[in-house]
Amino acid sequence: MKHPIVKTPIRALFATSEVHPLMKTGGLGDVSSSLPQALCALGVDVRIVMPAYADTLARLQTWRPRSELFIPPFGRFTLLEALLPRSEVPLLLVDHPLFSERTGNPYNASTGHAWPDNAERFALFSRACERIALNQASLEWQPDLVHANDWQSGLLLALLKEQQSSAPPSLITIHNLAYQGVFDHASFTAMQLPANLWQPHGVEHWGEMNCLKAGINGARFVTTVSPTYAREIQTPAFGNGLDGLLRERQNDVVGILNGIDVEEWDPAHDPTLPHGFDADHLADKLHNKRALQHELGLEEDDQALLVGLIGRMAEQKGLDMVLKVADALMDLPIQIAVLGSGDKALETGFLDWMDRYPGRVSVRIGYSEGLAHRIEAGSDAFLMPSRFEPCGLNQMYSLRYGTPPIVHGVGGLKDTVVDTYDATLADNSANGFVMQHLDAHAILWGVGRAVEYFNQPKLWQAIQRNGMATDFSWKKSALQYLALYQRMLDERKMYLA
Ligand code: ADP
Ligand code: GLC
Repeated sequence: MKHPIVKTPIRALFATSEVHPLMKTGGLGDVSSSLPQALCALGVDVRIVMPAYADTLARLQTWRPRSELFIPPFGRFTLLEALLPRSEVPLLLVDHPLFSERTGNPYNASTGHAWPDNAERFALFSRACERIALNQASLEWQPDLVHANDWQSGLLLALLKEQQSSAPPSLITIHNLAYQGVFDHASFTAMQLPANLWQPHGVEHWGEMNCLKAGINGARFVTTVSPTYAREIQTPAFGNGLDGLLRERQNDVVGILNGIDVEEWDPAHDPTLPHGFDADHLADKLHNKRALQHELGLEEDDQALLVGLIGRMAEQKGLDMVLKVADALMDLPIQIAVLGSGDKALETGFLDWMDRYPGRVSVRIGYSEGLAHRIEAGSDAFLMPSRFEPCGLNQMYSLRYGTPPIVHGVGGLKDTVVDTYDATLADNSANGFVMQHLDAHAILWGVGRAVEYFNQPKLWQAIQRNGMATDFSWKKSALQYLALYQRMLDERKMYLA
């Protein structure tokens, strides 16, 4: 399996709060599973560290205690060791009651509100990772570098920076700048963190503790998950108050487009589908459409453009805009299949829509991997009107499943979806529909254009095939991460020499 690209294995600690299939609320879980596997295939000695949530332990078949840690004020707890399922990647789990005695969403209670002790939970996580990074966890393994992800492991990098040359260099990947892990000063004090961290070059941001800022300040490189989002976050419109800091660090900010797990998302060999298909057998996609219509209680209508929509029901995803034109959309010959959960007002709005248009709108509130695959395969088009989208995975799954996406041209959506018009049809790049601005009318316009092309089967199939021909595998992106890892190690060698 190992690829000879890395001659002496680089030891990398990959710290993350979600790893599919052990815990996932969104794309972070997918990336934290497939990127380490791609790095491992390139020869990197990568180990993932994540919290041992109750649900994670229930999903893991085997693990063993590896070492004991004692960290005030969190007390004594265990580091567990396992393998990421269906892979060779070693996994370390921080087994503390703050994680292992709670089920469900890793960040929120069942009310949808954040756990009140999240500052403590992820400070504990960062502290435990710090011990591993400093070779103080009795693992007989010290990483050459640390790769953190999002705010949940941000503090870790600030803690490591405090250790100066005894700590390995680090990089943080921002999957979503909108979530920063902001807590008050009292939380900072309660965590017994080094007092020196309370400054703008550490964790402090406008009088509060900001874990993502801590990560950016501590990291040698700041990566984000698409080139366009890397530029966008340096502007006030997308910077969520950290654009100034990111502009200061512009030479260290790098956009690397996510890949997808092309084995798990393979329309020809997807065990969750009633009928496999590929670009040469596009007609077989219709069986999936009919089966989906049946499963979701939609009318069996081959002529209607079946539009899929999957995701977290959050402000980011622009779903309120869809509800604004819900009735007007029904004037088009379309059906809608929705799967998601989150904001209660959005959930209710979508359920109401279904009640008003039985047989044409189907809404499932909840989380289902299998149904997500069947919607990607059975829909004709996929709607993603995100206000902002750091990368977005669903549009890539759609492209691979011959389901042209209708998207707002921001972030990773802009980097992966090519609008359909004469020139892009002529050069075989057209693969979907891009709304340049986002408002309710743009959504009507975007879906209307998809209907127009759907009624021209030859052109529609060309658009489908263009999307299906794209290479979304992780290798290219993993090589870009590897190049950054290498740079960090080379710089460190020079610094220590
Ligand atoms: P984000 O990370 O912002 O939520 P992405 O498009 O990057 O958006 O990734 C979302 C991931 O979560 C995809 O793998 C998607 O299929 C999955 N997902 C989101 N909501 C659901 C759901 N209700 N059921 C199944 N999968 C879901
Ligand atoms: C975030 C972003 C999404 C991205 C995912 C994985 O949750 O919202 O755009 O694809 O992380 O990087």
